[in-house]
Amino acid sequence: MVVPSITRRAFTGAAVSSAIIGTAAAQPRPLVRVAFGSCVDPREPQPIWDSILAYKPDLFIFAGDNVYGDSKDREVKELKEAYERARQSPGYMKLRQSVRHLAIWDDHDYGVNDAGGDMPFKAESKEEFLKFWDVPSDDPRRQQEGIYYAESFGTAGQRTQVILLDIRWFKSPWLPSPNRGALGMERYVPDNDPAKTMLGPAQWAWLADRLREPADLRLVVSSIQVLAEGHGWERWGNFPRERRKLFELVRQTRAENVIFLSGDRHLGALYRETEGAPYPLTEITSSGLTKFFPNSREPGPNRLGAVFGRANFGTIDIDWWEKKVRLSVRDEAGQPARSHSVPMEEMRFRT
Ligand SMILES: [Fe+2]
Repeated sequence: MVVPSITRRAFTGAAVSSAIIGTAAAQPRPLVRVAFGSCVDPREPQPIWDSILAYKPDLFIFAGDNVYGDSKDREVKELKEAYERARQSPGYMKLRQSVRHLAIWDDHDYGVNDAGGDMPFKAESKEEFLKFWDVPSDDPRRQQEGIYYAESFGTAGQRTQVILLDIRWFKSPWLPSPNRGALGMERYVPDNDPAKTMLGPAQWAWLADRLREPADLRLVVSSIQVLAEGHGWERWGNFPRERRKLFELVRQTRAENVIFLSGDRHLGALYRETEGAPYPLTEITSSGLTKFFPNSREPGPNRLGAVFGRANFGTIDIDWWEKKVRLSVRDEAGQPARSHSVPMEEMRFRT
């Protein structure tokens, strides 16, 4: 786990687990400690990497806005520079070289703030993503539209599936707020247009197939918030039909033990939703590793406790014996600032 040449390739999954452990597709060693984070600008101080390394995660997930590379055109000069700064960032690279990791993008490493499928230089941005994250030449992400990806760790009974959704490549345009800046409708308002999509047909079909695969815990990573209500920034709730479709897909595929991970918001928080949900659904938002709003206040009808407006990373501690998952938003020193335990029993279908 500490040989840089191997762990760097660990990002790609099956081939690497074969190299380390000597078996096939699903990685045999169960995950017990997962950490994740988002919204890191390598121009800013990043003391938080030391705390993440001290936590000793089995896996780290870069949940989007992994650099701030908003660009003007298809040269993507700013994005290239941002990745270069990340390469020069000792903590960032130490984590990448010593911890198995996965990555998905959000708008600022996609290339344009709040952008979606109509972004004109998304192919160029994707090229830079594949390069920076060392995605090998035979990886499916090089052939498909978008960079959605999934990987499973551990064997039956202790298998964790990580699903990384691409929220940018196919997304329809948001409906702008008629009252920009007002509480609850800061930028966007819910749009019930049935033509609007979050994932696009190909990614929806792929997600259905993934949810039908066997897993004992599913970490579904969406760079933008899935369950959060009460604000008018980017979130699944701005496409209510798409959010309902997601819940319905979980129901149809009988996918138990789904937990959502998200970032983007420059705050940390925990959410629990029962309305319209197949079983009580939980979300942990961690943002950001360097970006945060110290005075964050917002309504949170389905939030568990207050938001956390300091630098933070998220952790998922999996107790396979007690069958419990502990979600924590941790501060810069690695101390839990917000925590919530979910018994796996709760994330089951009753009928
Ligand atoms: Fe974002």
